Amino acid sequence: MSRSEAAERIKQLREELERHNHLYYVKAAPVISDQAFDLMLKELERLEAEHPELADPNSPTQRVGGDITKNFPVVAHRYPMLSLGNSYSRDEVAEFVARVERSVGRTRYTMELKYDGVAISLSYRNGALVRGVTRGDGEKGEEITANIRTVRAIPLKLQGEGWPAEFEARGEIIFTKKQFDKLNAERAAAGEELYANPRNTAAGTLKNQDPKLVAKRGLDNFIYTLQGEGLPTRSHYRNIMAARDWGFRTPMPERRFIEQADDVDGIMAFIDHWDKARHDIGFIIDGIVVKVDDLDVQEELGLTAKSPRWAIAYKFQAEQAVTRLNAVSFQVGRTGAVTPVAELEPVLLAGTTVKRASLFNADQLERLDLHVGDLVRVEKAGEIIPQVVGVEKEHRPAHAHRVRFPHDCPECGTPLIRLEGEAQHYCPNEHQCPPQITRRIEHFVARKAMDIEGLGGETVEELFRAGLIRNVADLYDLTAEQLLALGKGWGEKSARQVVEGVEASKAVPFEQVLFALGIRHVGETVAKRIARAVGSIDRLMALSREELTQLDEVGEVIAESIADFFAAEGNRAVIERLRKAGVQFEGAAAAGPVSDKLAGKSIVVSGVFRNFSRDGIKEAIERHGGKVSGSISKKTTFVVAGADMGPAKRTKAEELGVPVIDEEEFSRMIGE
Ligand code: IVH
Repeated sequence: MSRSEAAERIKQLREELERHNHLYYVKAAPVISDQAFDLMLKELERLEAEHPELADPNSPTQRVGGDITKNFPVVAHRYPMLSLGNSYSRDEVAEFVARVERSVGRTRYTMELKYDGVAISLSYRNGALVRGVTRGDGEKGEEITANIRTVRAIPLKLQGEGWPAEFEARGEIIFTKKQFDKLNAERAAAGEELYANPRNTAAGTLKNQDPKLVAKRGLDNFIYTLQGEGLPTRSHYRNIMAARDWGFRTPMPERRFIEQADDVDGIMAFIDHWDKARHDIGFIIDGIVVKVDDLDVQEELGLTAKSPRWAIAYKFQAEQAVTRLNAVSFQVGRTGAVTPVAELEPVLLAGTTVKRASLFNADQLERLDLHVGDLVRVEKAGEIIPQVVGVEKEHRPAHAHRVRFPHDCPECGTPLIRLEGEAQHYCPNEHQCPPQITRRIEHFVARKAMDIEGLGGETVEELFRAGLIRNVADLYDLTAEQLLALGKGWGEKSARQVVEGVEASKAVPFEQVLFALGIRHVGETVAKRIARAVGSIDRLMALSREELTQLDEVGEVIAESIADFFAAEGNRAVIERLRKAGVQFEGAAAAGPVSDKLAGKSIVVSGVFRNFSRDGIKEAIERHGGKVSGSISKKTTFVVAGADMGPAKRTKAEELGVPVIDEEEFSRMIGE
């Protein structure tokens, strides 16, 4: 392919990919498969690698995150980022309307949601994203463009027409509830502290210096205003709708995320609706915003010191309740992390009864200055995990005892440690501290780990108390007789179920076994990546810290945790026993070739197949001694092509005289 052909193809692929990205992330209406998307992306990646001079920071390939950012430069906002006046009652909203109308007469309003996230200003020049800046102090903010590019709801290049040559789109970066729950589930599985609420997590994520990590977090965005000269109309509402056509994620009128009204009744109807419906959407809102719609009228009304006179936020009643703190318990998790938990007098909060609330860590206890018997304010942080946010000190009972974080593990008495830079205290007695043992075993038997049926939290504790299991290897020595001898609650059927479940777990693939071991920071995804890259536990154990950091997804922290895990004598002994019992410590990647039919051959796989998955074909190549290669070159022996193979690849294969075969021919070749 000539350079100009490559340039043309790159342009075409970028436009196509950006369009499909928009259909997927903004419209939620994809028209091609993920595989087809990936194929195009791979082709673009390859072409960009071959033509570095054609690089573009706004290429869809950059959405996975670029290099580490050393620090974020502070830059001045072209137009200050104002805040909104708050109101907490309908009366205050009515007063706002009256004030506006005294000043400018009757006018039209636009009402929209108040997203509970982080404000961001996005600058576009000639239809391309050039800069993303945080709100900062409203005058100056931090330039975090590299992170912003990874947010898939934000267009890197605009579609359609009518955008000014230069303007800013402002909006809110948020986590959807689904994405936030997913993130916390991953953290829980990796034995990491949970994030408290989506807003703070979004703020923290945006300031992370590793854009690749930001890309993985899956942030979202809504645009709520446009700033600049030459906007398409003088109506805020219509400008937002124009922004929608340019590819931004904006509030949808069809879901009543945005509406217009000509009087206070229309505004109240919107408030009434969202006061009730606020929990029924996939992200968190903390109120609604009422704006004068006409930009000229906005200008006429002007600003106060910090906020515009033409807009007001109506904040929902905070989801708080006051109740009594009966006690604070200290829970020891699988990794030894000790978390203080408030034991509360049950209270109704946002539709559920709350009896316990998180206190997170020692610093939080300190900040709250909690005493047993205090009346505490409980909030659903981001409406997800209840949390104690304050204390009504004036109601403190006389002689109440201050809650102190223990020096020693509440379960086993070992002195706690606090690692540098971490907020959490840990009990280091991992092999003898009972809850650490039982939670590790619970993690081991869980569905996503060894998936042992018939064993859950309570059974594990029972077997532990009865002295039948002290570690995960003991599970493989359990007999039906031992279980039956426990008496109450055990019968032939339940005993057999456990023994058979343990037996069946010996077939669980290595990647799941690695996750089941419960190495700190090694969640499901990381375990999978490592297992596939390394292939066996022996090879993993032989890797040095430095070698570990060379693996995909493994940074310093994970590498250290893995090395520490395998350095511990006790862990190695357990692994040996599991190995003897027949647990899988080798994965597909590690299995030796079954034939040498493809020995010495370098093979490229491209497209979608009918009888194989792409990974299946790649595995088959390796099983037969061949080598899978990512891109076509003079050294390629042949290409296995499925449907959807990109035209560029086909041309390249032709140019280089590399044969292209289909999956049937490939099957015949390997005799499978
Ligand atoms: S308009 C001058 N609209 O609330 C008006 N702000 O204190 C500028 N926010 O930091 C903001 N949803 O990040 C506007 N629909 C919405 C909003 C919204 C959330 C945030 C914004 C700002 C804060 C206002």
